Amino acid sequence: MDERDPVISSPPGKEPERQYYFINKLMQRNAAFFEKNKRRSRFFIQTFGCQMNERDSEKMAGVFIKSGFESSGSEEEADVILYNTCTVRDNADQRVYGRLGVLKGLKDKNPDLLICLSGCMMQESSVIEKIKKSYPFVDLIFGTHNIYKLAELLYERIESGSQIIDIWEHEKEIVEELPSKRKYPFKSGVNIMYGCNNFCSYCIVPYVRGRERSREIKDIIREIEALVSDGVKEVMLLGQNVNSYGKTLPDKVTFPELLREIERIEGLKRIRFMSSHPKDLSDELINVMASSEKICSHLHLALQSGSSSVLKDMNRHYTKEDYLLIVKKLRERIPDIAITTDIIVGYPTETAEDVEDTVSVIKEAGFDGAFTFIYSKRTGTPAAALEFRMSEEEIHKCFDRVLKTVQETAKKRISLLVGRTLPVLIESVNEKDPAMLTGRIPQNTVVHLRGDSSLIGEIVNVRLDRAEGFYYIGSLT
Ligand code: SAM
Ligand code: SF4
Ligand code: F3S
Repeated sequence: MDERDPVISSPPGKEPERQYYFINKLMQRNAAFFEKNKRRSRFFIQTFGCQMNERDSEKMAGVFIKSGFESSGSEEEADVILYNTCTVRDNADQRVYGRLGVLKGLKDKNPDLLICLSGCMMQESSVIEKIKKSYPFVDLIFGTHNIYKLAELLYERIESGSQIIDIWEHEKEIVEELPSKRKYPFKSGVNIMYGCNNFCSYCIVPYVRGRERSREIKDIIREIEALVSDGVKEVMLLGQNVNSYGKTLPDKVTFPELLREIERIEGLKRIRFMSSHPKDLSDELINVMASSEKICSHLHLALQSGSSSVLKDMNRHYTKEDYLLIVKKLRERIPDIAITTDIIVGYPTETAEDVEDTVSVIKEAGFDGAFTFIYSKRTGTPAAALEFRMSEEEIHKCFDRVLKTVQETAKKRISLLVGRTLPVLIESVNEKDPAMLTGRIPQNTVVHLRGDSSLIGEIVNVRLDRAEGFYYIGSLT
């Protein structure tokens, strides 16, 4: 019971009011911490994985700050460390286990340090078992469906003094209207949907992120309007398959309809989105992109494989020809568009011949960039039960060949815009040379240019003087 505030003496049952109750409790605790230590309690968040996780981490950072914590520059100086984890491939898991060993050392030095784990990896029961057994010093574990409960769980952990594990097997309500602390003041990710219903045969995401749920159009618009009035110029609409946006809503809406509504928001300058699934990409989307003044000329469209038979095994619901037709239409309607992709090499049923198909699609599509991955077996997915057709050595050879082909097409594509002047959103001071700035053209390619840091967050016209590797050196015009 909180004697000082009889109005909110017990936690409300309704969200998000309940979380604000616990944020208030943590604030009181942090005020006492400040009195005692003459400094604020510090948090550190390490994010693994995709932009969904980045956005979740921003939301959790917002809760920490609202609760009276301050951000710590390093793990060593933090009082609470949170790892927001990914499990899409085995190496993501291994990185977390490796880091937990380091955290054990920090906890030995400072027993008051709180170590928290959240995110996709925590949705797997085998992971929880392993942490309980091998890393018992972890204080708080929660998953993907209850990140909004951070304040409540943290408070409970502090009060009880014992380890808390709260994993929900299934998604429940979408809780909104909680604080968030953006990494960049001028751009932001915006979730338009959660989860995934596609069950690609190799992928763990539907199991750890739950079923597809779209947010209501009005909630998305309200969030973007608030972001714009807070200085945001560019939004990245986030979903595992944005092209199926709206299918789960009672009043059916489509992704192109959502884009048209967002386009109308005054003050918003740039719209990006990811990821797009080829099976749901409509001509209507291409029309909206072609006629829009705000949607950036960039599409990330995962190919995964260029072999129609492997695509069938992967449960992707499109063929090599379907994919190439989409690329053709996009390039006809939006000549400057950059198309990037994801490719997996070494899917169990894949042969060296299938990889040749992938190489030919890369050449024909002419990708501007690609994330290439070696297939990683994920327990519980249908592909995990399959026998491999290629040896590890063959897979690595094929991977190198795919990577080399992608690098060649990307280089060619990037050189095409040299000499052009394009709008660049300046994002930061260059990491290596403080006299230089770094930004992105609509096609998403990075540009380095000479300029003053006062331009950060501005959209300026830049001449692309030359291409170096996969970025440009440019100059202000
Ligand atoms: N929903 C997005 C889509 O379908 O375009 C992809 C999201 S997934 C987080 C990012 C990428 O990871 C996928 O496009 C795929 O290439 C890769 N990926 C997923 N599962 C994988 C696995 N088991 N092994 C290797 N790469 C994988
Ligand atoms: Fe994974 Fe496929 Fe869903 Fe993308 S669409 S998250 S690859 S299951
Ligand atoms: Fe993203 Fe990794 Fe989860 S890629 S959805 S953080 S498994």
